[in-house]
Amino acid sequence: MLTENKYKALELETPGLYELEGLEIGVTSNCNFKCDYCCAYRRNDGSKLSAEEAIRLIRELPTLKRVRLSGGEVTMRFEDCVKIVAYCTENGIATQLNTNGSLLSPERIRRLKEAGLSNIHLSFNFTDAESFAAYYGMDPRVYKKVIENIRLCVELGLETVLETLLFGPTQENMPAISAMVHDLGVRIHEIQNSIVMDHAERPGWNAVASRESLVRSVRELIANRRPDTDLYLTCMDRFLDKLGFKEEPGVYFSNCVDGKKQLHLHGNGDILICELCRPEIIGNVYEGTDLRTIYANRPKALDEFLEKLPCPAYDALFPADEELHSSTEL
Ligand SMILES: C[S@@+](CC[C@H](N)C(=O)[O-])C[C@H]1O[C@@H](n2cnc3c(N)ncnc32)[C@H](O)[C@@H]1O
Ligand code: SF4
Ligand code: SF4
Repeated sequence: MLTENKYKALELETPGLYELEGLEIGVTSNCNFKCDYCCAYRRNDGSKLSAEEAIRLIRELPTLKRVRLSGGEVTMRFEDCVKIVAYCTENGIATQLNTNGSLLSPERIRRLKEAGLSNIHLSFNFTDAESFAAYYGMDPRVYKKVIENIRLCVELGLETVLETLLFGPTQENMPAISAMVHDLGVRIHEIQNSIVMDHAERPGWNAVASRESLVRSVRELIANRRPDTDLYLTCMDRFLDKLGFKEEPGVYFSNCVDGKKQLHLHGNGDILICELCRPEIIGNVYEGTDLRTIYANRPKALDEFLEKLPCPAYDALFPADEELHSSTEL
């Protein structure tokens, strides 16, 4: 059962039933950052999807429990975000807004709070302005602003989640990152395993953590977890047993819901299985795809996905198993 406003409630439910309970809405894929690890900002946007359109679609979905606003940097379409959040709040649908935190302000944070946002989810990968600026190619003042915004979210009582991508530049710094998350007053820390993107062949792309670094980082994080902090480890559910990890109170390996209970609705009406790991278009709400019946009438690509349940995070860490699967399929 969905616990009201509980972070990752969908992911903590027992998996198995495929129906649309979560909708990620990318009101825009545009972004003021160009993170090397990300593919979202490369997508062609379209931007047909106004708040009114998004609300019209949400209204038709009786099974929906959560709307996650994530693109791109959705705060670039801030007014639309507020309208969607307010509608969901009035209708008992939990909401999450994923942001890099750079375009927030005291006024904007207050408005999200007033609209009833269930939780705000900010990326947090660096513990000092210089490393942040060097990695993202940004002015160090942007870091200061992100930090101020994180503090404000906490002060104003928004449920605040910081997400750290476990990849090359963070894997050696996890203890310092988690200490800073705590110092900022945040009590929910999500560790997102890195997913290989299609631009990964480029020389110098070092986004994905190796198996050894992942095991070491996760062990360190669990060992150093403060009792008042919840740790959510994402895109690791397929192999937690294999790597000897175990859930315990305060340490959660979220079940993957992408494609199974959650789909991504893109700014041009495209429906994707998962914007990051499986940006396969399975329909378009302006070209006859009905989100209400999508699991009953499964489009071929969705059906194939549910049949095989591929996981690039698993394949990146256990490539031998991937080869074994493909040779058995031949
Ligand atoms: C696509 S961003 C959109 C929201 C916002 N712009 C931000 O960066 O937080 C959502 C999340 O995807 C994560 N992400 C981007 N590229 C990834 C990758 N290659 N593997 C795993 N997560 C990734 C980011 O770290 C971020 O927390
Ligand atoms: S991860 Fe977020 S901030 Fe970075 S490029 Fe992608 S959408 Fe933008
Ligand atoms: S299928 Fe994709 S979203 Fe799900 S756990 Fe694997 S990498 Fe993550």
